[in-house]
Amino acid sequence: MANNKDVAILILAAGKGTRLKSSLAKVLHGAGGRPLVEHVVQACLPVGPKKIIVVVGHQAEKVQAVVEPLGAETVLQQPQNGTGHALVVSRHAIGNAKYVVVLPGDAPLIRTETLKALIHKHKAGEAAATILTAVLADPSGYGRILRKGGDNVAAIIEESQLTPDQRELNEINSSMYCFTTAKLWPALAEVKPNNKHREIYLTDAIGVMNGQGETILAEVAADSREMLGCNTRADLAGVDHTFRDWKREALMRDGVTIQLPETVMIDPDVVIGEDTIIESCVQLLGKTKIGARCVVKTGSVVHESVLGDEVTVEPHCVISQSRLDSDVVVGPFARVRMETHLKSGSRIGNFVELKKSVVGEGTKAMHLTYLGDAKIGTKTNIGAGTITCNYDGFHKHPTTIGNKVFIGSDSALVAPVKVGDGAYVAAGSTITDNVPGEALGIARGRQVNKPGWASKKRRELAAAEHAPRKKKAKRR
Ligand code: UD1
Ligand code: MG
Repeated sequence: MANNKDVAILILAAGKGTRLKSSLAKVLHGAGGRPLVEHVVQACLPVGPKKIIVVVGHQAEKVQAVVEPLGAETVLQQPQNGTGHALVVSRHAIGNAKYVVVLPGDAPLIRTETLKALIHKHKAGEAAATILTAVLADPSGYGRILRKGGDNVAAIIEESQLTPDQRELNEINSSMYCFTTAKLWPALAEVKPNNKHREIYLTDAIGVMNGQGETILAEVAADSREMLGCNTRADLAGVDHTFRDWKREALMRDGVTIQLPETVMIDPDVVIGEDTIIESCVQLLGKTKIGARCVVKTGSVVHESVLGDEVTVEPHCVISQSRLDSDVVVGPFARVRMETHLKSGSRIGNFVELKKSVVGEGTKAMHLTYLGDAKIGTKTNIGAGTITCNYDGFHKHPTTIGNKVFIGSDSALVAPVKVGDGAYVAAGSTITDNVPGEALGIARGRQVNKPGWASKKRRELAAAEHAPRKKKAKRR
């Protein structure tokens, strides 16, 4: 397709979004794992325009922080006097671009291919304006397209200004347009704020251009979902649903099995290898990367983590900002967080929490354990209930455990502390000093057995049971 260096794209994102009833600006609300306006900018980038400009106003700095890192520039619209006014304030930024594509910041499902087709149609048709439209079963809330035969449009009528018979119109204005700038500016100059909000509506410029005998084209979107704007919380939920559908469908096309797909939530940047199975009710979030032939079982949440091949995540695990190498098994009910690295073949069992720890190849921590700031070698066994006491109330301290170590159950390792290669720690120990390699560390009260103690105790107790009853009887 032809290059688009003669096109500026303008994204309208200055409005508050009153209908969301929120302290957060509308375009910053999330759907499909990203703020609305970020989706729109992402769709524009591959179009290859001269520039992408975002009109900001409400919570301008927060919106800038989302769009500027993606390479968009911003224009401040203060106050926000309508979609037409947004164009007027952007005129300098649009500069000498021959065409301007205008997009609402609150319609995030738009796809690059649709934008390219819009620009192509506009250029080929030598139009003054080309509008993307959709035919909706329920067009309420949108401006309606008034056609005048063929591909041509006479005007856009905002919902509040529809006459009773125009209410039948079900072709809606998506608020996505391509304009020839030389035709747009004179038409916009004619538009007056003749509406109850006293705003300058971009939609009114269409009627003006038509009156001047200009060609206004409309392209009905093949997939009307791409045109959906988010004015309400229900709209946000609907759009989120569509994004999640699209992501799951794309992964399934690439060879991922997803069970009960409608219960699984996957963010847009997640990557998953072939033949991996994602069970029901799983969430895969952020920039998570999962290898091939893995299984992520029901109820697990994986956030910003990298999993190798053939990793098994048993049910109900929470894994964040961590790395699990190939052949690792975790869970059920494991929590792995904050830069933890589980090396190949390691096993993490139920009710085990790992924080900022490295677990070596083939090492096991199977039950009820907390390992924080720990570095553990290969083929070591961490017994049930082992705790690293890594925090002294002021600072975190490291625990270092070597290769082929055996930590007996219910041991507390008071950091900073080291246990050398091949060492044993006796069950129930509170280890406060380093244990040298091949040594046994034992740190607990010595056991004493008292012969006959139990039967003597039982006799005493039985005697005590009888004594008070006699007293009671006397009192009566
Ligand atoms: C607008 C269109 C309507 C269309 C609908 C599609 C107008 C007058 N109406 O209505 O025909 O069917 O979109 O979703 O254009 N914005 C600014 N500055 C402003 C006002 C708005 O940047 O002064 C931004 C908003 O942040 C938003 C976008 O423009 O991202 C659209 O504004 P919104 O208030 O949602 O317009 P709608 O009522 O939905
Ligand atoms: Mg809207």
